[in-house]
Amino acid sequence: MDYNPFSLEGKTILITGGAGGIGSEVARVCSKLGARIILTDIREEALTMALDTLSKHEGKEHLAIKADLTDADELNGLVTAIPEIDGFVCNAGVMKLVLTQFITEEELKRIQSINLNAPILLTRSLLKKKKINRGGSIVFTASAAGVYRVSIGNAIYATTKCGIDAFMRTVALEYGHKGIRCNSVNPGMVETALISGFTEEEKEKEMLNYPLRRFAKPEDIAFGIAFLLSDASSFVTGSALKIDGGMTLS
Ligand SMILES: NC(=O)c1ccc[n+]([C@@H]2O[C@H](COP(=O)([O-])OP(=O)(O)OC[C@H]3O[C@@H](n4cnc5c(N)ncnc54)[C@H](O)[C@@H]3O)[C@@H](O)[C@H]2O)c1
Repeated sequence: MDYNPFSLEGKTILITGGAGGIGSEVARVCSKLGARIILTDIREEALTMALDTLSKHEGKEHLAIKADLTDADELNGLVTAIPEIDGFVCNAGVMKLVLTQFITEEELKRIQSINLNAPILLTRSLLKKKKINRGGSIVFTASAAGVYRVSIGNAIYATTKCGIDAFMRTVALEYGHKGIRCNSVNPGMVETALISGFTEEEKEKEMLNYPLRRFAKPEDIAFGIAFLLSDASSFVTGSALKIDGGMTLS
């Protein structure tokens, strides 16, 4: 029996932030579902290691391209270097907790540049250069932060993710008639390097807000992204998929 509407066979998928955390797990899951993967990240060594973990397919070589997405030349170089794609997972991001009165302009610009400007500029260039095929799917890794919930010290990060939410819905509206879908996943806390700034005590306290009494594993988010990349979600566009273990219910 080979019925599988969630298959990614025949699709080429670009994943940013692919060197670790959610991005490398998305790459592994998508490669197992049959996709050819193009991974990109600023961390070259980790990128090569992530590439080595992907399921191999005959005649479809996965690619890894090192790029700092906040550098215009490197971003444009990436767009030029890649073939046409069927899926784009815009996932690279950073987080830093700081109380509002201590926000510096430098930190604000740095986080906005990675979390908001780079996704907008990269999506723009991919669309302008017609790199995303008809039937293609764009998925942003947004967050429950900002879109569904705010928390102390997280103003910059939450603001960038709200920006991504608005951008995602706008792209969905503009490109639906070209057969290109655009959605986001909005995770709660996920066990990756991004949350390494929290102490164990802070994490235990935070976990009490999760009805399922755990944080997500990268795989939990990757499965949601794989669904949005697959033809099983071909009537889903402009949606923000909460994957938060019920955290935002109360
Ligand atoms: N971990 C969580 O709790 C959580 C929750 C909600 C949303 N997210 C979002 O998920 C996404 C992935 O985060 P993660 O948890 O896997 O963290 P992570 O730190 O493991 O991965 C982020 C990746 O982005 C890459 N990156 C950072 N700056 C870059 C740049 N300038 N150019 C290219 N690549 C760059 C990093 O090298 C890293 O590999 C982020 O957008 C994050 O905001 C994470």
